[in-house]
Amino acid sequence: MSDTENDPKPDFRSGFSLQGLADGDAVIGRVDTDDAILVRQGDAIFVIGAHCTHYHGPLAQGLVIGHTVRCPWHHACFSLRTGDALRAPALDPITCWRVERVGDTAYAREPLPAPGPGTARASASSRRAPASVVIVGGGGAGLAAADMLRREGYDGPVTILSADDDPPCDRPNLSKDFLAGTAQDDWIPLRSAEFYAERRIDLRLKSRVSSLDVREKRVTLENGETYTFDALLIATGAEPVRLEIPGATASQTHYLRTFADSRAIVAKAKSAKSVVVAGASFIGLEVAASLRARGIAVHVVAPESQPLERVMGPEVGRFVRLLHEERGVVFHLGRTVKRIDGRTITLSDATSLDADFMVLGVGVRPSIDLAERAGLTIDRGIAVNEYLETSAHGVFAAGDVARWPDPHTGERIRVEHWVVAERQGQVAAKNILGCNERFDAVPFFWSQHYDVTINYVGHAERWDTVQMSGTLEARDCAVSYKRGDRLLAVATVSRDLLSLQTERAMEVAAQATSTTQPAP
Ligand SMILES: Cc1cc2nc3c(=O)[nH]c(=O)nc-3n(C[C@H](O)[C@H](O)[C@H](O)COP(=O)(O)OP(=O)(O)OC[C@H]3O[C@@H](n4cnc5c(N)ncnc54)[C@H](O)[C@@H]3O)c2cc1C
Ligand code: FES
Repeated sequence: MSDTENDPKPDFRSGFSLQGLADGDAVIGRVDTDDAILVRQGDAIFVIGAHCTHYHGPLAQGLVIGHTVRCPWHHACFSLRTGDALRAPALDPITCWRVERVGDTAYAREPLPAPGPGTARASASSRRAPASVVIVGGGGAGLAAADMLRREGYDGPVTILSADDDPPCDRPNLSKDFLAGTAQDDWIPLRSAEFYAERRIDLRLKSRVSSLDVREKRVTLENGETYTFDALLIATGAEPVRLEIPGATASQTHYLRTFADSRAIVAKAKSAKSVVVAGASFIGLEVAASLRARGIAVHVVAPESQPLERVMGPEVGRFVRLLHEERGVVFHLGRTVKRIDGRTITLSDATSLDADFMVLGVGVRPSIDLAERAGLTIDRGIAVNEYLETSAHGVFAAGDVARWPDPHTGERIRVEHWVVAERQGQVAAKNILGCNERFDAVPFFWSQHYDVTINYVGHAERWDTVQMSGTLEARDCAVSYKRGDRLLAVATVSRDLLSLQTERAMEVAAQATSTTQPAP
């Protein structure tokens, strides 16, 4: 008997009865041996691949909105008509089959052509295309921008200048599976070498830009090389805050931002027995979880009374601390590292810990020096308008470095989230091509601690009420952060659909506000 004969899922190739299928319903099935979902949207029926191209999230459990479906894990969005990845973090399309309807039965026929560079959209040459584009920064925002320029049909020269040693990589993975030893090296680059060659994206590594002349439209590298541009995107991200600890040597203290940083920690972890992590931030805690997965004793030292308290409040902080304690992490909260003598690490309360090395995860600061020296407007980040354009015409900024007017909070915000960085890169690319698209995505991030993932939509720097639905202990919970009557953000554990629905509700609320405002 063949595998497909054993597979109980309906084969959409053989026909699927639409009776009883409500508008917006998605059914899991297959097309021959490929997992697929069938979606009804009004009279239209779509059959597309069942798994998200980011991390294989189950799209059947996602949210259908119009002719799109959103992934429940990290909120990527795909077109049901073409399979195109409309919003990061997915960058690649999913397979889409032509559907033929005979009476009340739908049949999946041949796969539709995959959307390729420039095919899905009007050619950029018909809009205001610049003569050349330079992108400073080879992170999530920079890569997503270059990718989108080509997807939009832009044909001119695209250059990425990156200070990194490695091509753009899946940075969030560096503190998770890669550090834990469950992801291989070849999972980490976002794109293959062939991708850059095929798309004619000139990726220059180890190329730190030292100055920017906005008037002459020129950037200069540390080695003196110069590049001229017609349009520029600054996507220089953020860099770890460095601590001066008496007695610390470079070989004992590690920071984690780049692929090279993560490889260096992995190399040390192979023979280490005990590690001290300074900082109970997301990155510090993810490092703790990954090193515990390698069987290393981990001590976390941090000045706050609960981890993540400032970002998510004491309830979530306590839950995350317990999660880590259950796995053997020892916390030294309300304390800081005072000095290091060889293997001995002394804390502010005179506790001494023995460790093979330390990882410092005490926050990051946006890499704004280049923009500041070029005279761009700075506001605790590079100030951009709703189109992500800086104070200089034709110069855009995206990602961790940019502070933008967020329509959901009504405030100018800067965040350090992967999905936001990639989506801003995509929108900046479109605006470089003259699309005039506002950046109005609801901020989203996720963080992973062992088998628990926390998803967070919205943005709350200050709140006056926290409402809990479900319980964190049961690992089935939604935590809402409100100021007055206004819902600012929702953190969820095991409630992925609710997270997507909240994102959608926030979008609709912001659209309603912007359409009722008088024209400028
Ligand atoms: C270990 C780790 C885990 C994370 N996990 C998560 C997560 O789970 N969820 C989440 O939402 N976010 C996570 N983040 C945050 C997320 O990765 C960042 O928000 C995102 O990488 C920002 O993208 P970016 O393109 O703005 O900056 P970056 O990815 O930092 O890229 C900046 C680029 O600019 C280059 N650069 C800087 N200055 C110059 C210069 N002068 N000249 C040339 N190049 C320059 C750098 O070399 C780099 O290539 C994590 C971050 C780290 C470090
Ligand atoms: S798995 Fe779908 S967005 Fe990450």
